[in-house]
Amino acid sequence: MNEMLTQNDISHVVEADKAHVWHHLIQHAKFDTTDPNIIVEGKGMRVWNQAGREHIDAVSGGVWTVNVGYGRESIANAVRDQLMKMNYFAGSAGSIPGALFAEKLIEKMPGMSRVYYSNSGSEANEKCFKIVRQIAHNKYGGKKHKILYRQRDYHGTTIATLSAGGQDERKGQYGPFTPGFVEVPHCLEYRSQWGEVDDYGIRAANAIEEVILREGPDTVGALCLEPVTAGGGVITPPEGYWDRVQEICKKYDILLHIDEVVCGMGRTGTWFGYQQYGIEPDMVTMAKGVASGYAAISCTVTTEEVFQMFKADPSDPMSYFRDISTFGGCTAGPAAALENMRILEDENLLENTTKMGEYLLEKLEGLKAKHEIVGDVRGKGLFCGAELVKDRDTREAVDESVASAVVSACMVNDGVIIGMTNRSLKGFNNTLCLSPALICTKNDLDQIVESIDTALTQVTAG
Ligand SMILES: Cc1ncc(COP(=O)(O)O)c(C=O)c1O
Repeated sequence: MNEMLTQNDISHVVEADKAHVWHHLIQHAKFDTTDPNIIVEGKGMRVWNQAGREHIDAVSGGVWTVNVGYGRESIANAVRDQLMKMNYFAGSAGSIPGALFAEKLIEKMPGMSRVYYSNSGSEANEKCFKIVRQIAHNKYGGKKHKILYRQRDYHGTTIATLSAGGQDERKGQYGPFTPGFVEVPHCLEYRSQWGEVDDYGIRAANAIEEVILREGPDTVGALCLEPVTAGGGVITPPEGYWDRVQEICKKYDILLHIDEVVCGMGRTGTWFGYQQYGIEPDMVTMAKGVASGYAAISCTVTTEEVFQMFKADPSDPMSYFRDISTFGGCTAGPAAALENMRILEDENLLENTTKMGEYLLEKLEGLKAKHEIVGDVRGKGLFCGAELVKDRDTREAVDESVASAVVSACMVNDGVIIGMTNRSLKGFNNTLCLSPALICTKNDLDQIVESIDTALTQVTAG
């Protein structure tokens, strides 16, 4: 831990935090009697808090972000050098790292063509919504403006992205919402809406078609989906799902917007999650892992066909994309993203993700074999979940306090930080989530899973 901070300094930091910082997604009453956790330093897979306690981080900065791990000097240097040369200019102009990162990114995304920069996953998704609405106005007399989203998916924190959010607890009390967003059913086979069937994936996709037909295909502009649902329970797609979804989008001329905010940049073992399933998107959004949290950057990537619709008529002053994001012009983002991508390539981290992901899933299957409370394990690459149930036969979900107790036990016993579905779905905040940095080793995963094993034993013993 940083030797430079004295006990006095740390006490001051804790007091300042308690007095003035409003933490994300936290009920603050507990800080009347306890101190907030302040993360002071990080290296590789590990972080240290204000007490100097070492933790192994199995969730890449809490929210699946720090893909290349902590303490990367080369990213810090790339950002520093870029800031000294040119820190910012509005995105109506170009920048050296902006152009070079876009070129590298498009190399990894065959079929895609243009990169629009902004600074959060929510914002990147909002750009897509604006693109869809503007196309509706320019091409379809305002008609094809509806955007479909899926139950259990999450696309961001703003009112429009919450309107496209399929998690009732994230949305609760924040309405009224933006009109024109319509929900389609989830695709979690473990919680099948049609009982036990052998064509679940096709049924779940056909359920999207039913919504399109109900709404009217001439009113639907886009379908926005996560390739693997993250905060809604780590939902890997069922067999046959994506092929059918793609077919439906083509049939009704509906743009496919893939939200890669979590899956993007290697998390599942390919550059992007959609590439695992042969999907051909029209728009792709990404944020978290793009620069592993070393700078704030998000990208909205489109096909050339989508881009051309905004270029076709220079005589119309309203028909181009009239959007701006002030901090989308910060050069620290693409400078960090370029170095982040170099690390992923030079250290073969996609390969490591695939290998370690298989190992992690195997270890979680081991936990399922040992602990009745583990009802289902799911995952792709270093992105895994274990759903906890009261009863394997009925699949009744455990209360979220049980999942929380497992998370706390890992932290208290071993300093292992794992996650869980959090204020996501009423009655279903019961999935433990794991998304370690893509640099993790078998040894790291052994430590993490052993800790969960002990915690499950402890929690189920009462
Ligand atoms: C799938 C997905 N999309 C979008 C977002 C929103 O990203 P941000 O918090 O950067 O706005 C998140 C955040 O967790 C996410 O998980």
